Amino acid sequence: MAASTAPTSQTHPASLPPSVFTLPQTAQLEALYTIIRDKTTSRGDFLFYSDRIIRLLVEESLNHLPVIPKIVETPTGATYEGVGFEGKICGVSILRAGEAMEAGLREVCRSVRIGKILIQRDEETALPKLFYSKLPEDIASRYVLLLDPMLATGGSAMKAVEVLQEQGVPEERIIFINLIAAPEGLKRFCGRFPSLRVITGWIDKGLNEKSYIIPGLGDFGERRYCE
Ligand code: URA
Repeated sequence: MAASTAPTSQTHPASLPPSVFTLPQTAQLEALYTIIRDKTTSRGDFLFYSDRIIRLLVEESLNHLPVIPKIVETPTGATYEGVGFEGKICGVSILRAGEAMEAGLREVCRSVRIGKILIQRDEETALPKLFYSKLPEDIASRYVLLLDPMLATGGSAMKAVEVLQEQGVPEERIIFINLIAAPEGLKRFCGRFPSLRVITGWIDKGLNEKSYIIPGLGDFGERRYCE
């Protein structure tokens, strides 16, 4: 096949909800995804290349935060009418895989506060259940970057948003960041929280019978921490 700068995959269903934003679907990005999807990729390479994608996702999510006018004086003595950051932010990771995205957020936002939420499937009801949460006290006054690498059924993410809402965080101040999303999960999640923005790197084909994303990359946590 001849070299190309265009991505080879068809990734965008026409019915993408308006609150969903993907990274620019370039061939370079697709090459990063090809490496992390490959089952023969070493753990070291998985860490390195997934971190590159996480960094892109964090930067893209910050583009959705508000700015305010700001005038500065430059070393030439001129003034520059620019803008400054307005919103206070924090990160909230959904354990355990979401923790892998914390370092990428810290690289871009030094000393950012980070909360954690642990949600697991309740064996009796088969529904997502909150097991633990530790959130910044002033979270209600912050923009929240919610971190979870894989949006599969959307069950854990929806439970996490409920926890944030109980703490007073409005839906429109939450930005959910993930590397790969399944269309089923996206539809469910965005149907429930239509004004919550989702920044995803890639939208895959769908879910299998075990709720794994297809083609996906397998179990993100296992590949990142164990293999
Ligand atoms: N979580 C994962 O790690 N992988 C999937 O495919 C779905 C959920």
